[in-house]
Amino acid sequence: MRCLFAASLVVATLAGHVYGHRHTAPSPYDDGPVKRRKTLGFGPDHPHAVFYSSPYQIQTNGFTPSDSSMCPIEVAHLFIKDVLQKKATHYKIRKDSYTDKNTGVTHVYVRQVVNGLEVADGDMNINVKDGVVLSYGNSFYNGPAPVPFTNPDVAFVRNPHREACDFVATMLKPQEFQGNGDQVVLGSEHVISDELSHIHNTHCGSEVPCVSSEDPTDFRPALLKFMATATPDSKLAADIANDSEKYLSKITVEPTSHFAPSGSEAAVEFVAGNVPDAINPVKARLAYNQVLNAKGDSTDLHLVWKFEVEMQDNWYETSVSASYPYNIISVVDWASDSPIPKPAPPPISATYNVFAWGINDPERGERSITKENFDTLASPAGWHAMPVANDPSFRGSRSTSKGFWSNSTTTWGNNVFAQENWEGMNSFIDNYRPDGGKSKAFNYAYHPKITDKADALEEAKKYINTTVAQLFYTTNLVHDLYYRYGFDEVSGNFQQYNFGRGGEENDAVIANAQDGSGYNNANFMTPPDGQNGRMRMYLWNTALPYRDGDLEAGIVIHELSHGLSTRLTGGPANSGCLGWGESGGMGEGWGDFLATTIRSNKNYSDYAMGAWAANRESGIRNYIYSLDESVNPSTYKTLDKPGYWGVHAIGEVWAEMLWVVSQELIKKHGYSDDLFPPAPHTDGTIPIGDFYRVTEFGRPLVPKHGNSLMLQLVVNAMKLQACRPTFFQARDAIIQADQILTGGENFCELWQGFAKRGMGPDAKVEGQTPWGGGIRTNGFTVPMACRDYLDKH
Ligand SMILES: *[C@@H]1O[C@H](CO)[C@@H](O)[C@H](O)[C@H]1NC(C)=O
Ligand SMILES: *[C@@H]1O[C@H](CO)[C@@H](O)[C@H](O)[C@H]1NC(C)=O
Ligand SMILES: *[C@@H]1O[C@H](CO)[C@@H](O)[C@H](O)[C@H]1NC(C)=O
Ligand SMILES: *[C@@H]1O[C@H](CO)[C@@H](O)[C@H](O)[C@H]1NC(C)=O
Repeated sequence: MRCLFAASLVVATLAGHVYGHRHTAPSPYDDGPVKRRKTLGFGPDHPHAVFYSSPYQIQTNGFTPSDSSMCPIEVAHLFIKDVLQKKATHYKIRKDSYTDKNTGVTHVYVRQVVNGLEVADGDMNINVKDGVVLSYGNSFYNGPAPVPFTNPDVAFVRNPHREACDFVATMLKPQEFQGNGDQVVLGSEHVISDELSHIHNTHCGSEVPCVSSEDPTDFRPALLKFMATATPDSKLAADIANDSEKYLSKITVEPTSHFAPSGSEAAVEFVAGNVPDAINPVKARLAYNQVLNAKGDSTDLHLVWKFEVEMQDNWYETSVSASYPYNIISVVDWASDSPIPKPAPPPISATYNVFAWGINDPERGERSITKENFDTLASPAGWHAMPVANDPSFRGSRSTSKGFWSNSTTTWGNNVFAQENWEGMNSFIDNYRPDGGKSKAFNYAYHPKITDKADALEEAKKYINTTVAQLFYTTNLVHDLYYRYGFDEVSGNFQQYNFGRGGEENDAVIANAQDGSGYNNANFMTPPDGQNGRMRMYLWNTALPYRDGDLEAGIVIHELSHGLSTRLTGGPANSGCLGWGESGGMGEGWGDFLATTIRSNKNYSDYAMGAWAANRESGIRNYIYSLDESVNPSTYKTLDKPGYWGVHAIGEVWAEMLWVVSQELIKKHGYSDDLFPPAPHTDGTIPIGDFYRVTEFGRPLVPKHGNSLMLQLVVNAMKLQACRPTFFQARDAIIQADQILTGGENFCELWQGFAKRGMGPDAKVEGQTPWGGGIRTNGFTVPMACRDYLDKH
């Protein structure tokens, strides 16, 4: 899917003028030689735009969902009528509406139509499932329709005056803007009109009406003005300004074949050839665009030409005013969603002396030299490279790199910045981290000695190189693993650079080892997509020598899983969905479950959480994770017990349930020794291998084994579930995830697992509140439909 992104950076001042303003963040380009492709992106504000997602808001106009079998488009039609009430606004359902394969939600996109012309930024998006509108957004223009300027069925008319007119040349100068040269940030159209009105006065004699602003049907000057602005070639821009007529006369214009029958709402479209710097003919269409009114509180409609312009490094969709002075009103560069650029694999692969993946802690195995075995899909540039532009250490005047990539020889990469943080403060860029040198060999000693308690901290600091390298290694592998199960750029994962694959950038995990802000714990802060996650790992003073949480993979995985569950639940930009009560508890529980799943192997055993760091066999929870009810008796009803108000206690009940459910799937589907799916082919396709099941062409990839399938269902369910889910909702989301992925093949096994711990369909909570109140009743039955089936299996 293409995600159109237009940053609107319009600032209204006292005088009502609107200025383009400078990108205020320190620019990594200020003193560096690095160039990125030129790109434009801006547009007007829409103060009236809304997004509603609660049934109460959706139904205020009396809209009630129809029967669930109704076509989602039909539901959308009824809903739009309801929202618009008696307003005489027309609209059309856009062709790019689709039903999401994973969630089954149909995303219906609607475009407003006025006087037979589209309002380019009059949009509604309506999310429909089972006849129900789940949420919708609306930016329809809601003022009176303007008087139609002319029949929209216009044929292209050449302006006879134009050849003789010399001010045309001047006015097609590129748009001037303030910016740092290659990342362009523009204000609204007013910037342009100020400048051009000046030119108008100087160069255009009043007696020569060169261009009639009443004749907006010749779009060539508008297009040329845009090209002069958009081209990265400043010589070409200057030449267009100096000799516009030459370029104008070369542009060919043809209507596309589908002339609108009169009275229809289809717009007339043209294609323009010989457009300077365009690599394909430009599509042009007359439309309306909303512009902020003088007061800044609503919008007016403005007649524009909408162009789709394909250039070498850009693919623009732009609205340019149809009349003089051809202000550029909005621009979106589709090229930010270009196909995955394939960086070459780093010429030197790093090595780390670490407790390898699967060894949970220093008591479970020995360290060994392990390669930078990054997943080429998840981390195409390896673990130690990111573009200079995304590298926060290049802010200010520290640029030393001459190329696009900034390659580090330290624990500094696209997915994670790992460093000591003995001070326990928020700075991290200048904190110490090990340097593996040119060969990127992170091979350090780990021989902590028993000391007095007073010296234990200093002793731990001596192996900071080891522990930061381990933290870097584990965090990268977790990034790559979760990526392969669907925690990717668009769903809000943590990366500085997103390889053109969507989502918000500049949000790698800041991973602090031996963080000085505490002992015997760890934490993870998840702001919305586009801001760095921050993980704090602590020393544990539970033994001498101190134990270092960074070396216990389960703790690191638990923390990183907060990032996963928070970004996936309620969407990447909403970090407030797992705050407290059952949902907050599950936020902890997923981490324990994932840590336990990752460390487990083919031979079943019970596992404790954090046992090594806590120096306690049973770990940091009330019970160890076990199938055996005499070892771990947690059930749904356990949540009613005193001491189960806190998120960690609630979480271990959830983790135990998932552990039991997971074993049901393993019983049915067997066990995969490796949770990592096979590496992609060079063309990006994923081999089925022994990892996925062979499914019909076009069906989603379904992990073949019980443990990998469970991991997939857990991740998919996080995407499906509501913000602030309850245990029941999260359970139902897992069952729905299976329905979507496999057609519900595991319906009975999943219910069986949940029912074993009191979460069967007959479980209930009475007097429910989101923070855990109410009286719970365990439900140990399975759905009727499963009883025979389970007897036979
Ligand atoms: C502008 O164009 C004229 C004629 O088209 C040409 O003679 C002149 O050199 C050009 N000036 C610049 C600065 O390109
Ligand atoms: C830096 O990293 C990029 C991306 O992985 C790679 O293409 C490039 O070859 C690396 N350069 C050096 C000097 O290691
Ligand atoms: C960490 O490693 C560097 C070499 O990369 C070494 O100079 C330094 O002494 C080591 N630090 C400690 C505390 O061992
Ligand atoms: C599982 O147990 C068998 C038999 O005790 C043993 O040979 C094998 O190495 C074990 N596998 C793992 C992954 O621990």
